[in-house]
Formats: sequence, structure tokens, C-alpha cells
Amino acid sequence: MVKRIGILLSGRGSNFEALADAVADGRIPNAEIAVVISNREGAPGIEKARARGIEALVIPSKGKERETYDREVVAALRERGVDLVCLAGFMRLLSPYFVNEYRTRILNIHPSLLPAFPGLEAQRQALEYGVKYSGCTVHFVDEHLDAGPIIRQAVVEVRDDDTPETLAARILREEHRIYAEAVRIVLEGRYRIEGRRVFITQEG
Ligand code: GAR
Repeated sequence: MVKRIGILLSGRGSNFEALADAVADGRIPNAEIAVVISNREGAPGIEKARARGIEALVIPSKGKERETYDREVVAALRERGVDLVCLAGFMRLLSPYFVNEYRTRILNIHPSLLPAFPGLEAQRQALEYGVKYSGCTVHFVDEHLDAGPIIRQAVVEVRDDDTPETLAARILREEHRIYAEAVRIVLEGRYRIEGRRVFITQEG
């Protein structure tokens, strides 16, 4: 059975594109991207999805209660038979309602080694703190910000001459790689969760 992925984004959409490329070239087998949903009008990720012939919807979040909004999004995902939800630069916290509807079937990518530097501008936070290594994390989503059991991480060295932009660019390359790996692991069911720990059962 082909697994159906739903992508939620708010902006540029490079992680969406990385997942779409991985589906297209077989690094994520037996899967398709069923829909891309943005909470923001004009998110470049929406145009990128349409250019690839993938259905893309804008469901504006502005002025809506969190759960009211999430019910609209979950309904759209359910209508399209989505099995796995991937947050790809989706800058909103999910309600307990959403998390329960898709428990252990929502993933997020974050540009730091969590639990360090959750929230906005993680790369700037890392530079300002003075860490020598940062990176990125793919994790299952719960109702807390950038929390939930960790599936994959990648380490990126911080250079003395880094700016938030140069560090972000090197981290982004790793994001694109580990997000595709994590999606494959989850879709193939090759993991088990014990407490906060995720064990990968066989490497592909
Ligand atoms: C990515 O760096 C992603 O890790 C980050 O937003 C960027 C979206 O870029 N997400 C978060 O900070 C979530 N807390 P993209 O739209 O090009 O994928």
C-alpha cells in the first residue's frame, strides 16, 4: 500500500522539496505526497508544490482559535487519507486534539540539537549561546514546542566566522538528508518507542 504524506508549512518549503525529491527518487519508497497545506497566504512552498503537480491548500490560521484551526486541518488531511503528517517549517504549536488524532504519526524538523534552542531562530540562539556544535533534529510531535521523542539528529560544527545565515545554510543541508531518512523509518514501521527513546529496529 502506498503511504500518503501530508505536509504542513508556513514559508519557503525547502524541507518539503527535499521530501518530494526523496519520494521521487525512491529514497522514501511506497509513498506519495498527498497534499501540502500552508497556514499563510503567499508561502513560497505552496507555489513549489503546485509546480510539482501536488495539491496545495492555504488554510489561513489568522484570528482562529488553535483547536478550531486544527480541526479544519485534520479534516482536510483525513479527506485525503493522509497516513503521516510532516511539519516542514510549520510555525505553529499543535493542539492536543491534533496530536491525539495523529499520535506518533506527526514528525517535525528543527534546526538545533534539541532540547537545546527550541522555538524561533534556533541558529541565532546557538551562535549567541556560543556552542561549538549545533545541528538539527527530527522528532515525533507532541503538544509541546519542539518536543517529543527524537528519531534522528545530525551535528554541524559552528565556525568562528559563522553568521546565523551561514550556519543555517549548512544545517539545512543536513535537515534535508535526515528528514528523508526519518520519514522512511517511520513509514516502514522500523522503530519502537520506549519512554522518550526511539530505537531503530533495522537499518535500511
Ligand atoms: C527549517 O530550518 C526548519 O528546521 C525550521 O524552519 C525552517 C523551514 O525552512 N523549523 C523550525 O524552526 C520549527 N521550530 P523550509 O521552509 O525551507 O523547510
